Amino acid sequence: MEALATAGTSAGTAAALEQLYPRLARETFTAGWHSRSPAVWPHPRTGFKPRLWSYKRGSALLDEAGELISPERAERRNLVMFNPMEGNDYFALPTMMAAYQMIKGGEYARNHRHSPNALRVVIDAQDDDVFTVVDGVCLPMRRGDVLLTPNWCWHSHFNRGSGKAYWLDVLDVPLVHLLQPMFFEPGQAFEQSILEQHAEHPYRIETAQVARQMASEPGASAWRSRALPAPSMKTISLTLHTTQAPAVSTPVQAVENRIYTVVEGSGQTHFGQETLQWERGDVFVAPMWTSHFHAAAGPVRLLEISDRALFEALGFHRSAPTPQ
Ligand SMILES: [Fe+2]
Repeated sequence: MEALATAGTSAGTAAALEQLYPRLARETFTAGWHSRSPAVWPHPRTGFKPRLWSYKRGSALLDEAGELISPERAERRNLVMFNPMEGNDYFALPTMMAAYQMIKGGEYARNHRHSPNALRVVIDAQDDDVFTVVDGVCLPMRRGDVLLTPNWCWHSHFNRGSGKAYWLDVLDVPLVHLLQPMFFEPGQAFEQSILEQHAEHPYRIETAQVARQMASEPGASAWRSRALPAPSMKTISLTLHTTQAPAVSTPVQAVENRIYTVVEGSGQTHFGQETLQWERGDVFVAPMWTSHFHAAAGPVRLLEISDRALFEALGFHRSAPTPQ
């Protein structure tokens, strides 16, 4: 931009400009035509890369951590998945973070609330042993369930069984860091009072039930996708991808950042030259504008958690007509 802006100027003018720039800087101005980096570019670019985190490895490391750290000490006993890039050791994507969390039988993850929106996807839990409490409503956490805890809702988790329970946490913390409206409040009491108990609630989505419905419809052996309604989440969208037989998805390339978690089955996702192999419990990310498609090895339930709702609300959503 600088070369373009100063092309054709005389040597005298160029020298005068060079003398002007430090004087501008002393008064905290930058000449727009002289900034070190451009303000606009032709298409999205990001330093975040496609990456997969293995549930086998993550749960083994969480078990190890579980010998050393209690939920009382940790607030939440979780392993955060970070995308390895300069200056980042916490975020999987620019707008969302992801973590594996584990609570043992008899443990309670204390009550608190915060401005980031959060959700959990249950990977392993004994039926009727594990619960999330949201604003006093106690909701069961069963394998494949998605539990929503929108912005500023009180939430806590407990396991009254004897086995360990594991789930994936996804929060829009990086977005809240960027925009800066962060608030956090610990509950006055460690445990949250239970006012109601429900299995059916807008904050609990049973992916098993949605998948059963999709399997009963014609064309169930092809790759199919269904949006899961979560109107309480203003920044996060959910899509369930299923097939009853080996199948390949259509390639996609769009502005949303996507976290995928494998609820059932195995397969692979192709990102240009790179292929990620996945199985149940694994988590992988497809950053903004990354063209990719999936290939299921057999029956699959794959949950996509994206920031599409955010981009749509802001008018920034865009897809490539033909993925590259
Ligand atoms: Fe929380």
